Amino acid sequence: MRHLVDSMDLSIGEVEELFEIAERIMEKEDDYRNICKDKILGTLFYEPSTRTRFSFEAAMLKLGGQVIGFSEPGSSSVTKGESIADTIRTVGSYVDLIAMRHPKEGAPKHASHYSTVPIINAGDGGHQHPTQTLTDLLTIKETKGRISNLTIGLCGDLKFGRTVHSLIKAISRYENIRFVLISPKELKIPEYIRKEILIKKDIPFSEVETLEEVIDTLDILYMTRVQRERFFNEADYIRLKDSYILDREKLQSAKDDLAILHPLPRVNEISYEVDDDPRACYFKQVKFGMYIRMALIAKLLEVM
Ligand code: CP
Repeated sequence: MRHLVDSMDLSIGEVEELFEIAERIMEKEDDYRNICKDKILGTLFYEPSTRTRFSFEAAMLKLGGQVIGFSEPGSSSVTKGESIADTIRTVGSYVDLIAMRHPKEGAPKHASHYSTVPIINAGDGGHQHPTQTLTDLLTIKETKGRISNLTIGLCGDLKFGRTVHSLIKAISRYENIRFVLISPKELKIPEYIRKEILIKKDIPFSEVETLEEVIDTLDILYMTRVQRERFFNEADYIRLKDSYILDREKLQSAKDDLAILHPLPRVNEISYEVDDDPRACYFKQVKFGMYIRMALIAKLLEVM
């Protein structure tokens, strides 16, 4: 039995295999609409979500399976004080795999120690979001035709943005990747990512505070929202929330084949006027998220 807790839990070969499955499903979706018949996905969302929960649910339904779960722990026995271990042991008696989002870093890992079914980390606090990373990698592959030889700008809240942490870990394994880290100094990448991934693996990276000074060098621009829910102090959030706003004017100096990604939701960091730019990939990214989750479910349930 496999769990997906960290973006490094899958080898590059396994990620490639998921891409192949997702591409097969995208090509001929009808051929796969019953492969999860009689299987049930449990969705335990202790934190709000639109894309991750809906795409997991849509993915399972499109494969012919069923979904049960909660999007609000207040409607479950969590409010009576039930532990994660007991919730997981209970839900695992009813379902074939579990997608779990939790505000506490490490909660899905903890859950995996008690689970009799595969656990998928659907985002844990400011730590990791491995299925968003699979989504991001598939989007890059489909858009750029490669996941190598890329200069990737990561812009915004690099401190609390779990999608950034997962993506840096996973994409650092590909050839000739260089990062441009664009953030206010208060929201720089955590020290463990800098030391254990970037420095240890000798990945080229630079850190800057403005988007304008680097936008013309980028192949990928990965925008992120300032994560209000992770701030201890509202005044700091207000001060930093509009640090970066991507608009048409800023894009004038960007490459013609730049790919703009964003895990979403966005707040102000990408102007709506950018949505019509052919370089905007964030709504395609949303759709790839469903297909890669279909592939992941099929693989973890060993039906493909
Ligand atoms: N990208 C992402 O995790 O979005 P949601 O919070 O809406 O699931």
